[in-house]
Amino acid sequence: MKRDMVLNVNGEEHDIEIEPNRLLLEALREDVGLTGTKEGCSIGVCGACSVIVDDRLVSACLTLAVTCEGKRIETIEGLAREGELHPLQRSFVQYGGLQCGICTPGQIMAAKALLDQVPNPTPDQVKEWMSANLCRCTGYYKILESVMAVVEGKVETKKSDDAVREARIQSLYQSDTYKSDASD
Ligand code: FES
Ligand code: FES
Repeated sequence: MKRDMVLNVNGEEHDIEIEPNRLLLEALREDVGLTGTKEGCSIGVCGACSVIVDDRLVSACLTLAVTCEGKRIETIEGLAREGELHPLQRSFVQYGGLQCGICTPGQIMAAKALLDQVPNPTPDQVKEWMSANLCRCTGYYKILESVMAVVEGKVETKKSDDAVREARIQSLYQSDTYKSDASD
């Protein structure tokens, strides 16, 4: 039997009517209409559905929506402010961490959860944390570079989109900064 509930997503309250077994992933995408959170494996192993609930990174495919009532849910749609991308979003564009639309929202939300807790992680800490987010394109070095660029303050936040595109092209032709860590 359906029940009424309120989901607070990115600071906005949404009144929805759902079954008690409705997953947070389904509620976000189909009831709230925010399709930025993606479904990959559906069993909690790929990280594509990562969202932040009360400051904790969770897999929306394993979380019942009703357990999130009264909690603060953050999704990829909530990161940009007043038309300005979040530094992680800019960095993923600039450093080539963004390759497909399926894993990227989860990668960025996972990275945000880490930086919210640990603002200056080492590359190894980033690798360990992000290991729960799979990328089938094997673009892991670019993802690591993108996160570390935010940590190291190397993201072009104020430049025009053309300048960011140019910086991205340069980045793609450079050797991977963290590739020497590949044996870890
Ligand atoms: Fe949730 Fe893969 S879809 S972890
Ligand atoms: Fe999404 Fe690799 S960039 S699966």
